[in-house]
Amino acid sequence: MRIVIMGAPGSGKGTQAALIVKELGIAHVSTGDLLRAAVAAGTELGKKAKEVMDRGELVSDEIVLGLLEERLSNSGMGNGFILDGYPRNIAQAEALNDLLERIGQPVDEALQIDVDEESVVARIAKRAALEGRSDDTEETVRNRLKVYAEQTAPVVEYYANKGILSRVLGEGSIEEVFQRIKGVLQINSDS
Ligand code: AP5
Repeated sequence: MRIVIMGAPGSGKGTQAALIVKELGIAHVSTGDLLRAAVAAGTELGKKAKEVMDRGELVSDEIVLGLLEERLSNSGMGNGFILDGYPRNIAQAEALNDLLERIGQPVDEALQIDVDEESVVARIAKRAALEGRSDDTEETVRNRLKVYAEQTAPVVEYYANKGILSRVLGEGSIEEVFQRIKGVLQINSDS
């Protein structure tokens, strides 16, 4: 299964992707995690990316596509994958479409998690206090939400037009949201 999971910052993409991965035995590909790994490794790419991420802007399409291509060419993709944080604009959606068509592995399912802005701001504030992620400051979160509305939200329509979009309510507990996703993906744990 090849899934794209989408939603605003703090909507629960990463949390739910980790649960889906456990259930389906597919690979979790998070462009945010790939970028944070490059930042932690102190590479040139990581240094450039950190400045952009700390402003809440999008890292260049070219850099992110390069990281993604490298990750998808690694082993462990046999059962499929879930993409978390990519695509984030229409150009990325088209680049992904071309890349996956080329390797004969198109996206089967695009999942959009819908959460109120109030909830995502509260969740991120809580994580900021617990983990201190450098882009979880109030000012950066505000910009991440603005960038999401302007550049990423249109990607939902892109997948709706392809006929593979499902929307899931992201309010409630992590387990409640996961049960909704399992329903949409027709995952039956007992089988
Ligand atoms: P990325 O890492 O993708 O961050 P994001 O989209 O801002 O999303 P978050 O990680 O904040 O939230 P999430 O939706 O994954 O929710 P989570 O499960 O963590 O990207 C970071 C930056 O990297 C971008 O701003 C950009 O600069 C760059 N970047 C990444 N991809 C890029 C791309 N393709 N192109 C260009 N630039 C790119 O949950 C959030 C918190 O809420 C957690 O603490 C969690 O425990 C909690 N939580 C989750 N679900 C619930 C629930 N149901 N109830 C209560 N709490 C919950």
